[in-house]
Amino acid sequence: MKRYDIAAIGELNVDIILNGIESEPEIGKEKFARDMTVTLGSSTAIFAANAAALGSRVCFVGMVGRDSFGSLVRSSLEAKGVDTRFLIEGDTPTGATICMNYGEDRANLTYPGAMDVMGFDDIDPAVFELAGHIHLSSLFLQPRLLQDIDRVLDAAAARGVTVSLDTQWDPAETWQLDYRSVLPKVTLFLPNEKELQALTGKSSLEAAIAEVTPLLGRAMLVKCGSRGSLLVRRDGSRTELPAFLNRAVVDAIGAGDSCNAGFISAFVKGLPLEACQETGNLTGAVNTTAAGGTGAFTSLEHVRNLCRDRFGRAIQL
Ligand SMILES: Nc1ncnc2c1ncn2[C@@H]1O[C@H](COP(=O)(O)OP(=O)(O)O)[C@@H](O)[C@H]1O
Ligand SMILES: [Mg+2]
Repeated sequence: MKRYDIAAIGELNVDIILNGIESEPEIGKEKFARDMTVTLGSSTAIFAANAAALGSRVCFVGMVGRDSFGSLVRSSLEAKGVDTRFLIEGDTPTGATICMNYGEDRANLTYPGAMDVMGFDDIDPAVFELAGHIHLSSLFLQPRLLQDIDRVLDAAAARGVTVSLDTQWDPAETWQLDYRSVLPKVTLFLPNEKELQALTGKSSLEAAIAEVTPLLGRAMLVKCGSRGSLLVRRDGSRTELPAFLNRAVVDAIGAGDSCNAGFISAFVKGLPLEACQETGNLTGAVNTTAAGGTGAFTSLEHVRNLCRDRFGRAIQL
């Protein structure tokens, strides 16, 4: 019996969100914003928080600085029920993103900080003993982890730990991941359609799927926004599942991470892949009913009620 269902390995940062800004920033001038929220950012944190809300036992492996933002990250994760014993405190400050909102548009400025420097040697090897599953995310925001990806995957394989991978978008758009050697060691690959095409350099989604199918560990879930998702198994068989369409989307921030949280929570419970896919589509849809990535995931009870009342489906968690 493992202590954790899921260890999430990923980036951590703080979002400083400014609203009601009088005009765009200009060098040499002082401008004012009406509102500010300082909150836990990072897509892997959204995944971890929501998987915990769905009832999975989750711990986080990530790096923060020895600073007040690091304390904010730690206490925010703990408040969401995520175990922080494997957080690493390093000499590099905790990363932060300043999000300047201008109506529907936004300008972001990110200091990556500690997420830039975490590599395999920083990770407590006990993680691979205590967790039954490892979820890796946001690889291109973590250059040292990306460099060490084979060591992480080999450590997981040596202990029979299953692995899911959501690379997320590469801001540099160079896609320096040798997917031919990496994907066979990944149990569940969780890209969205744009990322899958960019990673493989194929001009059509169909060609990208054909390229990676023989490389899959067990399966891939391709996330297709409001069109739902496509489950592809290693043997090439596919299941397409439309979204549980939400016609009153508040925002889609974190929908992919919430979909991952539902999919993986169902997987670690031993549910069949089709049930995992349905759970992922449901939790992706639930995500869009409230602001931000975690707003709708206040409790499993609340998520169950939303699935039944808004989407007419019983979630299998
Ligand atoms: N408007 C929506 N209504 C219902 N479900 C949605 C909507 N947008 C996204 N989803 C669900 O969330 C999943 C993940 O969202 P997606 O935007 O594809 O991920 P990513 O954020 O990684 O690009 C989708 O596969 C879908 O099931
Ligand atoms: Mg995503």
